[in-house]
Amino acid sequence: MSAATRTAVPFGDFRAHLAPLRRELDAAIARVLDSGLFILGPENEAFERELAAALGAREAVAVANGTEAIQLGLEAAGIRPGDDVVTSAMSAGFTALAIERAGARPVFADVDAATLNVTAETLERALTPRTRALVPVHLYGHPAEMDGILELARRRGLLVLEDACQAHGAQWKGRTLATLSGLGALSFYPTKNLGALGDGGALLVEDPALAARLRQLRNGGQSDRYRHVLSGLNSRLDEVQAAILRVKLRSLAAWNDRRRAIAALYDRALSELPLELPVERPGARAVYHLYVVRHPERDRLMAGLRERDVATLIHYPIPLHLQPAFERHGGKPGDLPVVEKSAREILSLPLYPEMSDEQVRCVARALRETLGARA
Ligand SMILES: Cc1ncc(COP(=O)(O)O)c(C=O)c1O
Repeated sequence: MSAATRTAVPFGDFRAHLAPLRRELDAAIARVLDSGLFILGPENEAFERELAAALGAREAVAVANGTEAIQLGLEAAGIRPGDDVVTSAMSAGFTALAIERAGARPVFADVDAATLNVTAETLERALTPRTRALVPVHLYGHPAEMDGILELARRRGLLVLEDACQAHGAQWKGRTLATLSGLGALSFYPTKNLGALGDGGALLVEDPALAARLRQLRNGGQSDRYRHVLSGLNSRLDEVQAAILRVKLRSLAAWNDRRRAIAALYDRALSELPLELPVERPGARAVYHLYVVRHPERDRLMAGLRERDVATLIHYPIPLHLQPAFERHGGKPGDLPVVEKSAREILSLPLYPEMSDEQVRCVARALRETLGARA
């Protein structure tokens, strides 16, 4: 195919994403401007109610971002300095930063070679005598296998906080992620399946007392105005973002369905190529925050796609135990072989709800050409 007839495929398209919602978003923002209330007002309260209802949680507590959702969730549940918290080495660095900000030490687990998620077995191998909590990450919108993880936690008396920052609305055996352990974190970073137009985050919480504690912690630890009863944080979702998220929440299910349809198109179009494709275990309903393929010559593949106007990214190139910020915890190359090999082979293809079927075919074509397979 000549360059002139090629369809460019960006990694995302915010203009197309927002265009159909533009009038509703403008009205929502105007409503906040007219209200004169900008922090912890009616939009925040309504968003918390609507989010909890949409995702089947008892309560939702909105905060400033996903990182602080994890941090505050751990703090509210009693994690303290001196505690170890085991999480996936294959995640955004923010997962581990949140554990550190809660005062604990992040300990990194390897992942399952097919799903790239932690399992009960990989988490158990990483346990230390000081482990008090597990933070399984539902990576790329794919559920970690929660039955085994919850059973491990029960056996060892551990807290579980689900990092569902990439998995809004995904399910494991019919139950929505971030509600399975009673404490889950979501991020509303703009590119997420449910994204604000700025930063935002939330916790889904089963225990009302824990939710009440979180509402104090996110607001400087105040019980009433100017009375600080806990050592809290300033981590509030502002009214403009809450109003925007209320509009966007109404489309989440449809966007997730479209993401799944695009993933199915990719699955079919790429099935004959020498690539490892994402795996959905029986019982899993993934929401494809990302569609990540693997190939030993990932960099060559990425360059070939770039030449053909297809944008790709790598989530994430450096395993967390090898990140300079976490070196002092003692991680060395060779410690977590599946994560380390995967970090060299992963490539995230464009997948966003506004993508056309033709764009999916274009990515598949570019991959076929680059891999030198027959079209
Ligand atoms: C898996 C995971 N955990 C945590 C975070 C942190 O969320 P935020 O960027 O909203 O702080 C992100 C997103 O960056 C993420 O993808």
